[in-house]
Amino acid sequence: MASPYNDIVLEHFKNPRNTGKIEDADGKATEGSPACGDMVSLYLKVDPETKIITDIKFESYGCASNIATGSIITELAKGKTIDEAKKITWKEASEALGGLPKIKTHCSVLAVEVLRSAIQNYEEKHGLVINKEDTTE
Ligand code: FES
Ligand code: FES
Repeated sequence: MASPYNDIVLEHFKNPRNTGKIEDADGKATEGSPACGDMVSLYLKVDPETKIITDIKFESYGCASNIATGSIITELAKGKTIDEAKKITWKEASEALGGLPKIKTHCSVLAVEVLRSAIQNYEEKHGLVINKEDTTE
């Protein structure tokens, strides 16, 4: 049976970039999928001055779609500021991979969500989340 995945996806699945864990991460998150019970974690190092993502790693316990998207999303986010990285969409990640099988969309969405959650975790830890109440000052 032919693989449902294209060559770019398979290459990222077999040789995922930026895998592993950052022990002293500035921001991190784990997202789990209720659909399959799989999980993906993502770790960030952020330059305190420029807010540029200087290092990023992910660990996936998911399928090829999840692993390939984790790989591409770390490549897309590395070297960007957290504000730029927040705007990376699932569509961009999926296009960079040359397309993903429809049935596996949620697995790849999970990898995009974990990046946003890790950035949110960084912002919360560093007091960058402005509460609505505070904006009235
Ligand atoms: Fe679980 Fe895709 S089947 S992440
Ligand atoms: Fe697990 Fe897609 S089946 S996230």
